[in-house]
Amino acid sequence: MTQTDAAATANGPQQKDTVTLAEAGSNAEPIELPVLSGTIGPDVIDIRTLYGGTGMFTYDPGYTSTASCESRITFIDGDKGELLYRGYPIEQLAESSDFLEVCYLLLYGELPNAEQSAKFSNDVTYHTMVHEQVNLFFRGFRRDAHPMAVMVGVVGALSAFYHDSSDIEDPYQRMVASYRLIAKMPTIAAMAFKFSIGQPFIYPRNDLNYAENFLHMMFAVPCEPYRVNPILAKAMDLILILHADHEQNASTSTVRLAGSSGANPFACTAAGIASLWGPAHGGANEAVLKMLEEIDSHDRIPEFIDRAKDKDDPFRLMGFGHRVYKNYDPRAKIMRETCHEVLDELGVHDEPLLKIALELEKIALQDEYFVERNLYPNVDFYSGIILRAMGIPRRLFTAVFAVARTVGWIAQWSEMIEDPSQKIGRPRQIYTGPARRDFVSIDQRS
Ligand code: CMC
Repeated sequence: MTQTDAAATANGPQQKDTVTLAEAGSNAEPIELPVLSGTIGPDVIDIRTLYGGTGMFTYDPGYTSTASCESRITFIDGDKGELLYRGYPIEQLAESSDFLEVCYLLLYGELPNAEQSAKFSNDVTYHTMVHEQVNLFFRGFRRDAHPMAVMVGVVGALSAFYHDSSDIEDPYQRMVASYRLIAKMPTIAAMAFKFSIGQPFIYPRNDLNYAENFLHMMFAVPCEPYRVNPILAKAMDLILILHADHEQNASTSTVRLAGSSGANPFACTAAGIASLWGPAHGGANEAVLKMLEEIDSHDRIPEFIDRAKDKDDPFRLMGFGHRVYKNYDPRAKIMRETCHEVLDELGVHDEPLLKIALELEKIALQDEYFVERNLYPNVDFYSGIILRAMGIPRRLFTAVFAVARTVGWIAQWSEMIEDPSQKIGRPRQIYTGPARRDFVSIDQRS
């Protein structure tokens, strides 16, 4: 398919052309399928009439060639290593914006003016506390529970608390649910952390900005003052911006699929958290650290590189490769610089794990195996190191990712609900199990 810059209008993608599929399936007649263009990115073949016209489905495990929806939120050009939120390059947002402004942009499509920004910040901040009864949920978990297990449970449980923002047909209630989720996720993630280390929960402080408040809830204790380090707060804000949305990835697609049945937004978000947890997705930043700890010394790097290349060994170099970026991950470039700033600030630049990480990066960027397959370091490679330097235990890394991605999930969920062409998601399959057969009673079975 050709790349096109044809303008998409307010009415959605434009039909550019058709392709003809000759003698497909039960239909001896050729079938014409429309070719649609978005604003940027590859054209798509609209196959919605394929089954009706031919009696055949398409087969695309992992959706590597399938667009599941129309979206105006985020665009990735994996070959160029480009990421745009509502058209704005991630580098510019990382440089000049802050997380709440990015949230507004993702939700509403435009950057806010000063008045809108102040109001949005105020409205979101108003929702930072969780219902006091939510505390009791935490007490039901084991102290050694994985924070993501706690997050799936507690965020899902919000459905039981906020009935006044669960009517998905009502735009106002959808907005309140979005603000609640963005505001409460740091509170819940921090509570999961505090619970795991046996410290009291720290209530949110609405005089702090989003990232500062998150760090405060994680690291303050009631018995002494806590001053948020501005460099760490800025780094946290950056991590949140860089992870805020990433088009139709596994967790976002999960939120959309769950939401396509009309499910409650808090429950859909819990589904997104479950999907994010996996090591091939958001769990990768935790897996990177685990791998670096396992490598442990510089001398063992070649052994792990060899393992990553060995077809008979399931081991993969965590933090390398991406389904979409087949060039450098633009978020990784930004994160690499911040990583050094944070390590300088904390005076841990000689951190042995960072040294191993940088050596791994160097080898992988030169090694034929990685170069041939375009396996570059991804954002999780560096974010794991930054979070560790901040004092965040690796088990909490993916929960931080979930805090950031919540706005993306909820923006994509809202977009889907408002899309008149949205239907309940229902993929097809090629069935390869037994054909119809008759039941055999137990005494007749061999
Ligand atoms: N280490 C070693 N080999 C790899 C790696 C890796 N990290 N990633 C891919 N390969 C190889 C793979 O074995 C295959 O080789 P061959 O062609 O010889 O069979 C080739 O590269 C293509 O791999 P693939 O599995 O077809 O690629 P994919 O697009 O399906 O997988 C991925 C993408 C991210 C799941 C994978 O690269 C991976 O497992 N990376 C490590 C986990 C990781 O860092 N995940 C975070 C992704 S970024 C966060 C996010 O956006 O959620």
